Amino acid sequence: MPDAAQLAQGHWNETPLFLTEQQRYSEYPWLYDVAEFREHAGDKVLEVGCGTGADLLQFAKYGAIATGVDITDLHLDLARKRVGNMAAVLRADMRELPFENESFDYVYSHGVLHHADEPERAASEILRVLRPGGRLNVHLYARWSESAFIYLLKHGVRWKQHVENSTAPVHIDLYTATRFRKLFPGCDIRFSKHQCYKLRFAEPLLGWFIVGKGRKL
Ligand SMILES: C[S@@+](CC[C@H](N)C(=O)[O-])C[C@H]1O[C@@H](n2cnc3c(N)ncnc32)[C@H](O)[C@@H]1O
Repeated sequence: MPDAAQLAQGHWNETPLFLTEQQRYSEYPWLYDVAEFREHAGDKVLEVGCGTGADLLQFAKYGAIATGVDITDLHLDLARKRVGNMAAVLRADMRELPFENESFDYVYSHGVLHHADEPERAASEILRVLRPGGRLNVHLYARWSESAFIYLLKHGVRWKQHVENSTAPVHIDLYTATRFRKLFPGCDIRFSKHQCYKLRFAEPLLGWFIVGKGRKL
């Protein structure tokens, strides 16, 4: 039985997720500000699960010393082509990050830890590589969300097969603020929610992404 990391590699090596920068930030108009791409000039920024590198490139464009890690070879190739020499892109499993303790000022991850079957290990690695006073910004699928409800109505109990960019199997978990907070003990995490496709006014309550931002003490 493959574990979640093996499923992820099978999924995205078969059907890579590549959007142009224009496509990505028009599909997720809130992401530019929420990710804080413009706010980390000179900081050492790590992106966990950088995929094909669109977000990593934004940090680098605004002056961050940016490093991305991912586990899917095809995504890594596409990310390297996209960022060129503006950022470092490494193959690594988020459960075992190849960095010294306290080596980053800011760790960012969009849409990745909910694909882990051992999210506690990934979260503790994020805390380990963050310096004291450094900040994390992690985006996960929200249990109480318009999207989860619509997928369920449309596809029934096996709806999770239809969430990603193909029906190739992949592990997906949904998060509440309580579950999210347990991943990062000792961190004062603040939450917001984003991305509704129909009930846009309800985004703060029913957004598909629950975003947690916190500071390592
Ligand atoms: C939905 S994609 C998101 C990629 C990118 N953050 C984005 O928003 O486009 C999930 C990514 O997580 C990566 N991933 C899944 N499990 C991983 C693991 N154990 N270690 C590192 N990366 C992993 C996958 O390879 C994939 O690139």
